[in-house]
Amino acid sequence: MRRITIFDTTLRDGEQAPGATLAPEQKIVIARQLAKLGVDVIEPGFPISSPGDFAAVQQISRELQGVEICGFARAVKADIDAAVQATQDAQRRRLHMFLSSSNIHLDFQLRKTREQVVALAREMVAYGRQFVGELEFSPMDATRTGDEFLFEVIEAVIEEGATIINIPDTVGYALPEEYGAMFTRVMKSVRGADRVRFSAHCHNDLGLAVANSLAAIKAGVSQVEVTVNGVGERAGNCSLEELVMALDTRKSAMGAETGVRPEHIFATSQMVSRAMSFPIAFNKPIVGRNAFQHEAGIHQDGLLKNRSTYEIMDPESLGIPRSMIILGKHSGRHAIKHRVSELGVELDAEQMESFYNAFKELADRQKVVHDHQLLELVGAAVNRMLE
Ligand code: KIV
Ligand code: ZN
Repeated sequence: MRRITIFDTTLRDGEQAPGATLAPEQKIVIARQLAKLGVDVIEPGFPISSPGDFAAVQQISRELQGVEICGFARAVKADIDAAVQATQDAQRRRLHMFLSSSNIHLDFQLRKTREQVVALAREMVAYGRQFVGELEFSPMDATRTGDEFLFEVIEAVIEEGATIINIPDTVGYALPEEYGAMFTRVMKSVRGADRVRFSAHCHNDLGLAVANSLAAIKAGVSQVEVTVNGVGERAGNCSLEELVMALDTRKSAMGAETGVRPEHIFATSQMVSRAMSFPIAFNKPIVGRNAFQHEAGIHQDGLLKNRSTYEIMDPESLGIPRSMIILGKHSGRHAIKHRVSELGVELDAEQMESFYNAFKELADRQKVVHDHQLLELVGAAVNRMLE
């Protein structure tokens, strides 16, 4: 089994989601929870961007032991200085530097030539490397950069001492086979590739962030960058819980595992959602309200006989309270009887028939029948029998 490093960027790239801004104290609380969850690296913010972010990165670096802390920086001396200073007291730390490599970014954003970009990347990596043992370099918009220039930039930063190469799909443009194949080519063709570790960083504009990250793992990357609930710019980043549970559930197919403790996934997801005021879609895999709820009668019946009929993961192992069966108009007699008996009531056949008809009438009028309503219906059915 290969051990995949989970690099959590909820507090940096995740916080870039519109409206998701966090106060420094909130970042500290979430960082503690991420450490408990078992992520390997935390990127707590962008130290140059504000005094609050600097303070949060500094406090997290001082407090959290046993997890690597990452300072984020553009290829600019002031950014590097701020990131190095903010992470100074971390037990283990790294510097994460990024610089665009695609033509569209060079022409319209950086307004630099390719030669200037390579020279700047070299100079800033050499500068940053004096302060830290681990330096991660990201050629931004890498998936829209041709191989030739991408390889040139990566070779240059490896020569200057970069130790981790993160190849981001900044705009969520790649397809899984393409993204995996790109890593294969880079690992084969770039000089010095055997001296560094590779990392995937995927955005979800086409809903492919998790699939692309899995393809990168198949191709040999040893680190993936993720956010809790998949929060992040636009449609977000690769979701931590989806990636981790895909690896956990399909361990032998993937040949890879992580150090994340699944039992803390649900609490972490709820904490981040509340702190960012960012609701979780009902049908969001793993942590959405409906992810382990079953309404169809056939499914409910199957689950009562054996959970694996319709569930590939155990919600309790993710820290999700078990209230799996939603009773509604699609529910069958078996599931309803089961829930009623869980509530401590045994009905004979005649009572059940009367109760079941009343249940279906109510279920036609509302989406979900709650336990207190079930008990009211049971009472009414029993009373009818006594009349
Ligand atoms: O999406 C991206 O390109 C990034 C990098 C700067 C790593 O977040
Ligand atoms: Zn990103």
